[in-house]
Amino acid sequence: MTPPGRAARSRAPHSRAAVILGSGIWHVIRERRDLQLDGGTVRETPFGPSRPVFEAVLPGGRKVLLLTRHGETGYQVGAWAVNYRANLWALKDLGTDHLLATCSCGAIDPRLTVGTFIVPHDILDKTTRRAKTFFESSGLGILRHGEPFCPSLRGALGEALASASARHRLGGVYACTDGPRLETPAEIRALAGEGATLVGMTLAPEFALARELEMCYAALAWVVNPAEGVVERPYRPDVLFEGMATADELAEGDRAAAAIPGVLAAALDRVTPARPCYCRRAMQRYKQRGDIGEDFRTWV
Ligand code: HPA
Repeated sequence: MTPPGRAARSRAPHSRAAVILGSGIWHVIRERRDLQLDGGTVRETPFGPSRPVFEAVLPGGRKVLLLTRHGETGYQVGAWAVNYRANLWALKDLGTDHLLATCSCGAIDPRLTVGTFIVPHDILDKTTRRAKTFFESSGLGILRHGEPFCPSLRGALGEALASASARHRLGGVYACTDGPRLETPAEIRALAGEGATLVGMTLAPEFALARELEMCYAALAWVVNPAEGVVERPYRPDVLFEGMATADELAEGDRAAAAIPGVLAAALDRVTPARPCYCRRAMQRYKQRGDIGEDFRTWV
């Protein structure tokens, strides 16, 4: 018998999911071979070429579009050099209407231990050198960001994490810094004072660009190190993060990363076509006024 509510989970005809993978996960996934991928295709966009977009099969058989921010073999493209607009445009052009992004992060809140997953609910965009809008030469894009991450997708991620018994916290304020350098202790203290609980370099301007293209967007972050100054750590020139994470913590971060494909698949299983969020109506006002039509390709 179909459990109550199941029927409502049938997929809308044009509903397509995509996943953006951040750093610290690709090598884990490749080693485990729990993602099947096609060859990937670079897409031309008005903002230049995207990263290759793959058709991927997640654990359990769900098909998604998949793109890596930083490359498929290592950290070829720094967070500061990612072409966020091209990537999001390419995914939208392929029919994406809901998008899950992964990112590793440093913990500003000392109670967040390495390996903990977080579903951020808010963001402090501290980046200054990134293209932040598709609407550079028009008056479009004055969009409310009371919920910068889609509440429906956040809920789906939360349920998936709970069902996987993964250590996690729902809600967090992600501070996005420019990089490439890591933060100073004073910067981390200042971010903590502003309410940030985690820090990374990638979710901005991605979250805002997704909203401009009316895609639901939420992030699955996981802690790979305590942020600078949160815990006293000796400097080590020979390892990732130069000693901010211990060897045990680096291994713990990798262990957590291995759970990500399954969590993403479980979250997408919980996404209903009738998502009670306003992401897909973000540009409605402009459409009603006749400023733009339905086809996003004509908006820029
Ligand atoms: N700072 C910025 N970005 C990061 C960190 C950090 O401590 N850890 C992982 N990504």
